[in-house]
Amino acid sequence: MVPDSQTPSPGTRAATLIAGSASRSLAARVEHDLGRRFAAATIERFPDGEVSVRLDEPVRGEEVFLLAATAPPVNDHLVELLALADACRRADAARIVAVVPYFGYARSDRRDGRRTPIMASLVAELAERAGIDHVVAVDVHTPAVEGFFHIPVDNLTAIPPLADALSPVLAERLATTAGKAVIVAPDMGAVRLANRYATKLDLPVAVCHKRRLGGAEVSVSRITGDVVGRQCVIIDDMISTGGTIVESVRALNDAGAAPGHIVAATHAVLVPGALQKMDDAGVRELFLTDSIEPRGDSTARLVPTIVSVAPLIATAIRRLLDGGSLRELA
Ligand code: R5P
Repeated sequence: MVPDSQTPSPGTRAATLIAGSASRSLAARVEHDLGRRFAAATIERFPDGEVSVRLDEPVRGEEVFLLAATAPPVNDHLVELLALADACRRADAARIVAVVPYFGYARSDRRDGRRTPIMASLVAELAERAGIDHVVAVDVHTPAVEGFFHIPVDNLTAIPPLADALSPVLAERLATTAGKAVIVAPDMGAVRLANRYATKLDLPVAVCHKRRLGGAEVSVSRITGDVVGRQCVIIDDMISTGGTIVESVRALNDAGAAPGHIVAATHAVLVPGALQKMDDAGVRELFLTDSIEPRGDSTARLVPTIVSVAPLIATAIRRLLDGGSLRELA
């Protein structure tokens, strides 16, 4: 039986775990890995769409972990996270840690032209105002968004489990490409992630020079790095429309890369049609995590392999409760 979340194991602080509605399945996996029960909370929508939350168990004096991805519909889940934090604060929680496996609006980290907002900064202000004391996220689009917060922010990474999962598939493919492979960053923003994959898998890096033409339209003008005849592993922090991956595949094919591309990304935002688009383009293996509850597409042939971030999150919560470091998880 899973012990009560308010019953600490020896040497571990008392805590209450609460899951937002976008993270219930992930919470079940974290519960299993952590060996602690999530507390009951009622989360509903009023008929007009307003968010309604109620904590069904006391949190007075407790350290509260709110596991709540701001997954699509992002605005709803963001307001839900803020409402849960406000409820915890007003119920006299001692400390509120928001564990946000997918941090929406992180792409809006600077003004995109005149008279535009910086949404990541606004989200940071709202989170602090709601009473959140600490944020734990996973592969945030721009780690520099930490600078928008005045509270601790830990940015964990799912790269090691994703790299471990794709490694045997890559090894199999290498038999047909004379052992040559390359990690591909689909844009300059993904170079940091690409370098981490490359170090873990001992591979070189190539970079696509991408320009965004609109919400769902991008263009890759050239590629830096040797991709000719190589098996490509395209990596990214998130896949939304699939446009970035599709355009990268096109440019890699034009440049003479080996067919049968492998793609790995942390956040499966996946708007409808994205899987089909990537399949049509020639993606043959797709590795994603459950930071966002994967939305299946029964019509698409491309079936992603889902790597769970539950062990990562369970370890982070355990270490925070034990006063340990998250350094190895970041
Ligand atoms: C952009 O900088 C991100 O890292 C992703 O490349 C992008 O958000 C993916 O979006 P889409 O799948 O719509 O191209």
